[in-house]
Amino acid sequence: MTSQDIRQRFLAFFEKRGHAILPSASLVPENDPSVLFNTAGMQPLVPYLLGEKHPKGDKLADIQKCVRTGDLDDIGDNRHLSFFEMMGNWSLGAYFKEDAIKWSYEFLTNPTEGLGLNPNKLYVTVFEGDENAPEDTESQEIWKSLGIPENRIYKLGVEDNWWSPGDNGPCGPDTEMFYDMTDTGIGDLSKENFIEACKDETIIEIWNDVFMEYEKKDGKVIGKLAQKNVDTGAGLERITAVMQNVKTAYETDLFTAITGKIDEFSNIDNIRARRIVADHIRTSVFLIADGVVPSNTDQGYVLRRLLRRAVRFADVLGMKHGSLYHLANTVVETYKEIYSNILTNYRMITEEIEKEESKFRQTLERGMKEFEKGTDAFTLATSYGFPIELTEELAKEKGITIDRATFDTQMKEHQALSRAGAEQKFKGGLADHSEMSTKYHTATHLLQQALRDVLGNHVFQKGSNITPERMRFDFSHPEKMTDEQLKMVETIVNEKIADALPVSFEEVSVEEAHNRGALGVFDDRYGEKVKVYKMGDGDDKYSLEICGGPHVTNTKELGHFKIVKEEAVSQGVRRIKAVLD
Ligand code: ALA
Repeated sequence: MTSQDIRQRFLAFFEKRGHAILPSASLVPENDPSVLFNTAGMQPLVPYLLGEKHPKGDKLADIQKCVRTGDLDDIGDNRHLSFFEMMGNWSLGAYFKEDAIKWSYEFLTNPTEGLGLNPNKLYVTVFEGDENAPEDTESQEIWKSLGIPENRIYKLGVEDNWWSPGDNGPCGPDTEMFYDMTDTGIGDLSKENFIEACKDETIIEIWNDVFMEYEKKDGKVIGKLAQKNVDTGAGLERITAVMQNVKTAYETDLFTAITGKIDEFSNIDNIRARRIVADHIRTSVFLIADGVVPSNTDQGYVLRRLLRRAVRFADVLGMKHGSLYHLANTVVETYKEIYSNILTNYRMITEEIEKEESKFRQTLERGMKEFEKGTDAFTLATSYGFPIELTEELAKEKGITIDRATFDTQMKEHQALSRAGAEQKFKGGLADHSEMSTKYHTATHLLQQALRDVLGNHVFQKGSNITPERMRFDFSHPEKMTDEQLKMVETIVNEKIADALPVSFEEVSVEEAHNRGALGVFDDRYGEKVKVYKMGDGDDKYSLEICGGPHVTNTKELGHFKIVKEEAVSQGVRRIKAVLD
């Protein structure tokens, strides 16, 4: 079965069972400062898991692009990938454990509509219970009724069988499915042996059903949600490896063209380096397609690190300088039918990769000069971005030894300081619950209307990103704004804040929203009814926009609006960074 067959089967299976199919959301979350990227399929759906009505209904399925870059050093082993696609089906207060488990099992084992996996090679785990929630006996009974023997159902604690996206948000106990990768099957296992078999990858996790009926705040489970949700996740790369009977994602059809391309440029046999280059370039392609460009902050910084690591490991493989963008082309070829934005942005993707490689090579050259001057390893790393491994190599050539222990201690301190800064920045939980983020969200509506007033009606929102400290707003406009225009926009927004406009919303049909002249994307993303947010009353109405909310109740709550930067994002798209103080 090809990866594409698996995608199609998954979506068709759940569509047939009443689920609306959603396209993947962007890798960069909109209006959610708590994470840099979507790290799970549920992330773009958080407001709906918390109770907001989803326009497509209460049963949804999709294949969501995800990026996890927690520890880049893990990449290159058999399991970790920085980018993956997660197949998921959701119940937003509709079905619960019974249907969720039954459908997971059916999809995994049914040979005509599903994957046709061998039920005798399945093992499952369920939540054993703690002070927050009881043992999940219901799931155990459902598994037994489907034919999973009792001795292959293992009860585990909160580390294994409780899932939450972080310290805040919807969460709950889960039941996970595992598959025996041996040819003959290893049969019954004690709990200890099962755990051992998972560690040595004889058995691998393939699916997770989370029963999201609880909510966390600041790391603590605070109680039940108004509705019982189901959040399921099955990694496409994993499942494809299982179906193609290979040990890792790198040997599946999702990667073979990319690793094949690497082999055209390198004849050095270094599996880890080869995997790192393949992984990092694949992730970089998807990030750039979703609007991320290399920089020193936030998402751009992660992209920069990925690309620079790819350069270093390309060098380990002895690849010719400047060959990484060829790999990017192969990634584009592999995925262009599935994600059209990869194809439409492919020029930008290859250009950014080429640019970053050459910038990094300049950094390396400068670092080399500094090294010659005798600059120490720590300064080289922190001020010149010069990797310690290279310093060590150069030092070795000269017969100098680097005190790695001292360097590591210095770096740890340095990183702890920067991490404290970053955590400070991302604290505040999910944006929708943080007061400051709500204010920024309201400010984006005023800003969009003010930009249209000043620049014209070709201005439309192209994206936005909010943290408790600032807002970023991308919009269509062909050229740099003048200082005068920026001043005018800022003044208008502040006037609207001073006017103390009431903020309200109504739920109306898409057609009605359109007739009223509301701004918003009128595509099939919307179901029958949408929320239209209004700022101002009657003739004083200033802004009308389709939006899920939340917003402040009166614009006077926003304080003072200040534009700090205006810059280009891509051809025809500008970005404004602004703060409220
Ligand atoms: N949200 C769950 C996971 O990522 C399904 O494993």
